[in-house]
Amino acid sequence: MKIYIRLKKRCPAVLTLRLKVIQMSKLPDLGFSKGTIVETIVSSYSADGQPNAAPMGVIMENEQHIIIRFYNSSSTYRNILSKKCAVVNVTSDVETFYRTTFKEANPTGKIPLEWFEKAENVDAPRLRSAEATVEIALAEMKPIDEERTEAVCDVKLVKATKTVPKAYCRALFATVEAIIHATRVKAYLNGDEKQREQALKLLEIIKDYRVLVNRLAPNSRYAEIMSDLTKLVNSWRVES
Ligand SMILES: Cc1cc2nc3c(=O)[nH]c(=O)nc-3n(C[C@H](O)[C@H](O)[C@H](O)COP(=O)(O)O)c2cc1C
Repeated sequence: MKIYIRLKKRCPAVLTLRLKVIQMSKLPDLGFSKGTIVETIVSSYSADGQPNAAPMGVIMENEQHIIIRFYNSSSTYRNILSKKCAVVNVTSDVETFYRTTFKEANPTGKIPLEWFEKAENVDAPRLRSAEATVEIALAEMKPIDEERTEAVCDVKLVKATKTVPKAYCRALFATVEAIIHATRVKAYLNGDEKQREQALKLLEIIKDYRVLVNRLAPNSRYAEIMSDLTKLVNSWRVES
């Protein structure tokens, strides 16, 4: 311990190194369990090598296999179809969820390139900020319906950092729920009458979550994201 403190005085980066030790892990250690959807960020390269990332709910089939259900309209689906691999990034950072869902929420309109680094075992990028990464290779693609496809993927490598514990705040759940509802609003506002009605209901739910976030975490990054998200969904209402 004494040596560690002396080292830390000379080199503050030691602290970061100590917290960011990369460990080999198993999926259940990271909160995956059979049949349960966990919300992750899937990163992939496009056919011409551009890195991309988007939140996706993934399911552990068993410790060697992961299932992802894509909307065929997503770039992630197209990328995995072309490159046959990706990285499932585990994070609870709400900013990463927001800025990978809505690329237009980034200052340049794109996810910053410095967020990515090359994965080790597959031809895909991983997020530098991820608390854990699961490198996957496509095993099988099956259509679910006209709009969606299910991919079964082989798990190639699981790695986790040793991060400091974060106290749970309900604003995290509320903000991520609002973001996922907003992805549906975007699709439904341009749909038929029933879908437009659904979009209006979702807008009300987003409003309720904003009230909740402002109560639980006023002046926080969660509150800022909810305010930004509200502006974004209102801009689609004007366009539709
Ligand atoms: C928490 C969360 C979970 C999501 N899960 C999925 C999913 O399982 N499948 C999917 O196709 N889209 C899912 N989405 C929506 C996509 O992330 C969103 O449409 C994104 O813009 C797609 O980006 P891309 O075109 O770069 O792939 C989810 C969004 C959020 C916020």
